[in-house]
Amino acid sequence: MLLITGANGALGRLVTSELAGRDDVVLGTRTPRSATERRVDFDDPSSLDFTGVETLLLISAGYGEDDVVLARHETAISAAEKAGVRHVVYTSLSGDGDHLPFALAHRWTERRLARSPLSWTVLRNGLYAEFLAAVAAPTGDGTITAPLGDGRLAAVAREDLAAVAARVVAEPGAHAGKVYELVGEEPLGGDDLAGAVGGRYRPGSLAAAREAISSAGEALPFQVPMLVGTYSAIAAGFLDGSALVDNALPRLLGRTPTSALDVYRASVGR
Ligand SMILES: NC(=O)c1ccc[n+]([C@@H]2O[C@H](COP(=O)([O-])OP(=O)(O)OC[C@H]3O[C@@H](n4cnc5c(N)ncnc54)[C@H](OP(=O)(O)O)[C@@H]3O)[C@@H](O)[C@H]2O)c1
Repeated sequence: MLLITGANGALGRLVTSELAGRDDVVLGTRTPRSATERRVDFDDPSSLDFTGVETLLLISAGYGEDDVVLARHETAISAAEKAGVRHVVYTSLSGDGDHLPFALAHRWTERRLARSPLSWTVLRNGLYAEFLAAVAAPTGDGTITAPLGDGRLAAVAREDLAAVAARVVAEPGAHAGKVYELVGEEPLGGDDLAGAVGGRYRPGSLAAAREAISSAGEALPFQVPMLVGTYSAIAAGFLDGSALVDNALPRLLGRTPTSALDVYRASVGR
């Protein structure tokens, strides 16, 4: 049996549809809505019975302060160990993301797995092209104002990461002990994004972005430094993929990766 956590999240839904032909897939979610779905909430250890699960796709539950996320992942991995799960596949963060404010929880989870008797695979996912659309969206006239400087992001289509995850969980033994870097091949900067929507890029400052995010009132307190830190890491050139020795995305995908620019364009409705 294969159990997917976070099955109703965007990545979980895509992985689920990739695995549509299999009849041994159980969907773990905080809010089950059908008989094929099972309640799995890392904040509630009593919901984590992984009995009979051979492979667990542990989709990171990264929305929270570090202590919250660490506790969630500890609970999930402990439950997998207790139930005798054979192999855990964890969706982590690309190696060039170490400067991102949310990197710590991913690296902690990787270490936790390395210390575990479980067999495991780490998928170091790059930032989504869809995420780029959210943090560098154009206004109606195509102007993109964002503190990206002249940095670029090796953004990757979420559907490609889902396809890789589906391939790996289908044959976990072949990927045991592997850490895969999975980022886009064509890094995108502000000018690239503006070109794709027929607009223009106006580099902003981190201070102005922090102020705009805070005053919009939609971000939780921990999300403000998370977003500003992400802009900062892109602008400083850490996330363009050039530091990664081996990007496994094309190899594990077995096809040409989806154009991140196309995903960006579609995500912003252009
Ligand atoms: N690479 C990137 O650019 C990027 C961007 C954003 C996030 N992420 C990380 O990648 C993960 C998957 O991305 P996504 O696009 O699927 O995000 P998403 O659409 O926001 O889905 C996240 C899912 O995590 C699950 N989750 C949250 N809290 C949980 C808990 N306490 N216990 C168990 N599951 C919990 C939920 O699944 P259910 O609704 O089924 O319970 C939620 O829908 C995110 O959770 C985050 O850690 C990566």
